[in-house]
Amino acid sequence: MRVLVVGGGGREHALCWAIAGSPLVTKLYCAPGNAGIAQDAECVAIAAEDVDGIIRFAQDNEIEFVVIGPEAPLVAGLADKLADIGIKSFGPSAAAAEMEGSKGFMKDFCARHDIPTAAYARFKDIPAAKAFIAAHSAPIVVKADGLAAGKGVIIAETIEQANAAVDDMLESGTFGDAGAEVVIEEFLGGEEASFFVLCDGETALPLASAQDHKRVGDGDTGPNTGGMGAYSPAPIVTDAMVETIMETIINPTMAGMKAEGKPYKGVLYAGLMIEDDQPKLLEYNVRFGDPECQVLMMRLMSDLLPALIASADGVLKDFDLRWYDETALTVVMAANGYPGAYDKGSVIKGLEDASEDRDITIFHAGTMFGENGEVTATGGRVIAVTALGDTVAEAQTSAYKAVDAIDWPGGFCRRDIGWRAVEREQS
Ligand code: AMP
Ligand code: GLY
Repeated sequence: MRVLVVGGGGREHALCWAIAGSPLVTKLYCAPGNAGIAQDAECVAIAAEDVDGIIRFAQDNEIEFVVIGPEAPLVAGLADKLADIGIKSFGPSAAAAEMEGSKGFMKDFCARHDIPTAAYARFKDIPAAKAFIAAHSAPIVVKADGLAAGKGVIIAETIEQANAAVDDMLESGTFGDAGAEVVIEEFLGGEEASFFVLCDGETALPLASAQDHKRVGDGDTGPNTGGMGAYSPAPIVTDAMVETIMETIINPTMAGMKAEGKPYKGVLYAGLMIEDDQPKLLEYNVRFGDPECQVLMMRLMSDLLPALIASADGVLKDFDLRWYDETALTVVMAANGYPGAYDKGSVIKGLEDASEDRDITIFHAGTMFGENGEVTATGGRVIAVTALGDTVAEAQTSAYKAVDAIDWPGGFCRRDIGWRAVEREQS
């Protein structure tokens, strides 16, 4: 089978790494890919957002299956356009991708189907939004409705901050069209976890849980990022919790989307807040998490590709995936300055030595080859150093040993990925 993966981040490297091992694959391409992905797939210089370019490439190269990594091409309708020309793909239709593409849609959907989530209201009008904020207390959360590259959520500690966020989005247009409408919602306390399911329009097959580390600094301090590290499984997501999440959140979502004529296919990533054993839905994403995908792929024992095809074909019922019991933990190394302005072009050395151990895999996110074949940093988040271990503490120790073997003065990482789970293991 001729397969094309769309995207060029750490998530797509993990997907290519898993798919390249499948006996079903005769040729694997990735658009646009990166220096790490080039070891597993042939990279083609087409941006993930270039829907027409991808369609053309798929047609010209007799691609039989497309795996769509990021949200933007999904929301733009890549899966629909591929279906129109008879090419199968993994990922939701544009209508179903609204689940991530519009926070207002997702919240109204939860209200219609009685899915537990934070209380909320939607606004386009500034005075109405401020009146709502005045009638509630801080902390309160202000979100841009549309896709804002993970930056559209403001946790306001005071009423003034919330009003400023409303002005930023509705008046100054900081997020462009994505911020032309806002969702204002109740602040939820508790512990966050991510839960991933594979969907075929009808059935949802639980994959695994993970925990991300969104803040840039140790101890969860500093500005938000795309994710500085993750581990899987998340100890807070026990078997009983999986049952509760499936019963109260995932299954009603699958039934609701089908009933509304937007059957959900692809991976559904539930961002959850768990307090007193009660999970509430913070957000849905219509793709794998990055770097959560890296830890999921390390733990997956089964061949990924047949599962992705089963999702597209609507035959996930009775499908079974096997996982290693071990914990996977990934440490993201980012370019100095990230998530603010960061340097590009610094050289990364020692990657081969660092990944010699069979339990270590280094996934590339923002890398390319320099003129002499050296690996250079081109993005904010640059590599994800990923380890397997019998415990979170063991995986953490191995991952940092590999990090320390990498010679990259232009980069940094958090030194405490997994701290919450390690504390839990040790108590
Ligand atoms: P989102 O992009 O919706 O995942 O939001 C980014 C982050 O903001 C989440 O991972 C949470 O840490 C936080 N967050 C979002 N909504 C809420 C809420 N209602 N209460 C508390 N924290 C929230
Ligand atoms: N790691 C968070 C995300 O992929 O949205």
